[in-house]
Amino acid sequence: MSLSLDFVNNPLAGRFWGSATSAMTELSLHPPGAAGSKFPAPPPPEELPDKLCVQKISKIFDYQSQPLTVLQDVDLSLKSNEFVCLVGASGCGKSTLLNIVAGLTAPTSGRILVDQEEVTGPGSDRGMVFQAYSLFPWLTVAKNIEFGLKLQKLSKRERRERIAYYLEVVGLSRFANAFPKQLSGGMKQRAAIARALANEPEVLLMDEPFGALDAQTKEQLQLFMREMWERTHTTILMVTHDVEEAIFLSSRVAVMEAHPGRIKESVEIELPEHRELEMKSEVSFIQLKRRITTMLGHG
Ligand SMILES: Nc1ncnc2c1ncn2[C@@H]1O[C@H](COP(=O)(O)OP(=O)(O)O)[C@@H](O)[C@H]1O
Ligand SMILES: [Mg+2]
Repeated sequence: MSLSLDFVNNPLAGRFWGSATSAMTELSLHPPGAAGSKFPAPPPPEELPDKLCVQKISKIFDYQSQPLTVLQDVDLSLKSNEFVCLVGASGCGKSTLLNIVAGLTAPTSGRILVDQEEVTGPGSDRGMVFQAYSLFPWLTVAKNIEFGLKLQKLSKRERRERIAYYLEVVGLSRFANAFPKQLSGGMKQRAAIARALANEPEVLLMDEPFGALDAQTKEQLQLFMREMWERTHTTILMVTHDVEEAIFLSSRVAVMEAHPGRIKESVEIELPEHRELEMKSEVSFIQLKRRITTMLGHG
């Protein structure tokens, strides 16, 4: 189920990159000066404020009547427009952290800030995409997307425009009236992404969204996700245990360690803005993969 709602880069809302480039109000497929990309580059991150701040988050679960410290003093900040992947071994606390950011789980201590404001529960500023397809099976793709828009009390015209725009973003315009059971796994996940994006969250949270897909579909969705980000520069925090996927998609990989879970290191991914799957076999990519795998303790 997606929470979501309110996102910076929607040309319909004329809010490309927030105030930083308010002059740019239309989605341009052939912008000037976007080195290596067919889409416009966002302003340099150092010029942007923090969009999301995870401050000293700890989580202690009660496990068989014993306290289990799953997260300890986790600090993580994302700038506006940043795409950060969180990697770590299974069970290190990635989902727990993401659920705390989403407001679905309360932390034992620490704070979550979105645009410098503390958040304490689920909210329209954060959209979530889970690994399992979470579409309502009794609704068409368009109606699934419209569900959250109705909750936001958007007018019929606004809803229609947003549905059409985000279906186009995820390449499902032709499937607006299809039911989830008529879609492949990859298409279902693209529909779930469209639904979260349509609510225009400040931050998109994704928990292993491609984990249930076969290898080929997964690579297609990685390409799609990267292109979607190159086009919209939504702020994204995505959890994955796949190091290659994390490097390919993100601007920065945050590496988590376990027992207790905390961020061990953040690795800047200085690959070209425009990514192609072939890059995965380049030397610089393989070196990054080796470096992060070693950090994770199995390299
Ligand atoms: N509700 C809960 N109660 C007790 N322990 C939990 C609960 N949720 C998660 N855990 C424990 O927290 C640890 C981290 O889980 P999780 O965040 O799902 O890890 P990851 O997503 O990195 O695989 C695991 O040891 C798990 O068993
Ligand atoms: Mg998990």
